[in-house]
Amino acid sequence: FFSATMSASGSTSTTWMMALGATVAAATLLFVASPQTLGTTHLVVAVPQTTARPTVSSLALGQPFASSQKPVAYARAYETQASNPVDTEAPEAIFYTQQEAATRGIFGVAMVAVTSALIYFWRASKHTGSDMPLLQPIDVELPTAEVALAATSGRKDLTPPFYLRRPVVSNRDVRRHAEKTATEQAPTKKAPKKSPHTYEPYYDINGTRFYTDEYCNTTTRILEKLGTNLHLKKNHPLNILKRKIEEKFPGFEVFDDLTPVVTTFQNFDSLLIEEGHPARSPTDTYYLNKDTLMRPHTSAHQHDLLTAGHTQFLCAGDVYRRDEIDRTHFWCFHQCEGVKVMDTTDTKEVEADLKAYLENMVKGMFGDLKEDEIRWVDAYFPFTEPSWEMEIMWQGDWLEVLGCGIMQQQILENAGADGNGTKRAWAFGIGLERIAMPLFKIPDIRIFWSENKRFMSQFEGGEIVEFQPLVSLKDFPANNKDISMWVPDSFADNDFFDLISNFDFSNLIEEVELFDEFTHPKTGRKSKAFHVVFRSPERTLTTEEVNVHMEELRAAAVDVLNVELR
Ligand code: DAH
Repeated sequence: FFSATMSASGSTSTTWMMALGATVAAATLLFVASPQTLGTTHLVVAVPQTTARPTVSSLALGQPFASSQKPVAYARAYETQASNPVDTEAPEAIFYTQQEAATRGIFGVAMVAVTSALIYFWRASKHTGSDMPLLQPIDVELPTAEVALAATSGRKDLTPPFYLRRPVVSNRDVRRHAEKTATEQAPTKKAPKKSPHTYEPYYDINGTRFYTDEYCNTTTRILEKLGTNLHLKKNHPLNILKRKIEEKFPGFEVFDDLTPVVTTFQNFDSLLIEEGHPARSPTDTYYLNKDTLMRPHTSAHQHDLLTAGHTQFLCAGDVYRRDEIDRTHFWCFHQCEGVKVMDTTDTKEVEADLKAYLENMVKGMFGDLKEDEIRWVDAYFPFTEPSWEMEIMWQGDWLEVLGCGIMQQQILENAGADGNGTKRAWAFGIGLERIAMPLFKIPDIRIFWSENKRFMSQFEGGEIVEFQPLVSLKDFPANNKDISMWVPDSFADNDFFDLISNFDFSNLIEEVELFDEFTHPKTGRKSKAFHVVFRSPERTLTTEEVNVHMEELRAAAVDVLNVELR
């Protein structure tokens, strides 16, 4: 006995298999013998020979007398049995009472369960070997160096050797694992089950407590990026770009660590953004409560800095927007603002000064651009008049670089910075990722958040260099999933995008695209359908994990956004 145990304990799965084998054998024996062993009596009845005997499955369901099996014949058979208890002449059949059938049914179900378990363990053990855990973390990194090497050497076969291959895991395992790690990472989250869409009663940010209210649409996950400050991370592409900008504004003060939590006054009122402007809508902006929000632009600091007496400054930082999801959009990105107050009332002079600074700035980034490779397009911003957008010709296309204009005089006055009407100011705002992507040739905005050392080490020189992808995006196939649903009237596409952003797996989603939309002519219900493109810039995703994520997303859409899946 001991030696048997000893050898079996050498491998967990072998022990399991032996135990399960024994259980199956016992269950089978009991199943076969049950009515007799349990001492129950048989109901012996005479029926016409054409009547089918109850099948095993009908017994398993506890319904030996299913109506499909000729009830009239059965009724007759019962009568015969009642008047003549055992008619040995007649063809006979054995029927079980409901209770017996149920007993057998239970054994049947148990057998199926045990057999499936056995098959599952067998499949799992086949791939992992006996001493490997059955379930490996799904985020095991593929040997990237090897993949990269293989990709550059043109080797096609990237299948890892069998001992590096993932074990066969079921969707349920992946989900369980995801749930487990989700709860491990965030033990305080209130509802980790289906959707991570819960708003906390308050958030402590940079030493201040912000109480949320019914206006809040910001989750802990959205706030996770706060404090990362990619623009301050030495030799991060965004930091390099920020320094390139600063070089072209000598004598300007630089504010790059102002808290991104601002008031509606700072962000909207002080900039003359009127009530009802779309940017104020919670579908576009992350609010903590009615009066407090995550800044969607660095312009939010203009009023304060002007009020404090600063007349030439740059202001850089992280900004937050509820927005679409694709390779150029991420809910947290970075901007740099520039303001200069001038001792003049001549707006032509202010315009010329502004344009000279900005043309000089883009040349510092993109190299010498020719006259006709920079153009100024009239634009509209509530806080500047007139306003322009600068575009440059870059690799055959016009690239929108920034927004700018002559500051509304009202803003200067409200900040007490207009020198009693003797001064004018210009302002501009530039998105750092938007410029860094073409400059460094970074194909996906999520790459800026990479914590891979091989990403950061590429930029150690502190100069603009072409990003060398560790592997080409094309090496990792996209996995396209669709979701189509009936949406309530209140539904905004950004709500759906934000729902996705709130999942940990959102960094595996490259793009979400609305591809179909219609209103049912009779019911008036609105239907929307989205492509959800899964692709990690760092590894190949398994179909299983993509399916699991998609299921979670569907469930959350129903739960949080009240849609009805189609
Ligand atoms: N805040 C604007 C945005 O985020 C950009 C901008 C435009 C800033 C014009 C400015 C400006 O200072 O003058 O889209």
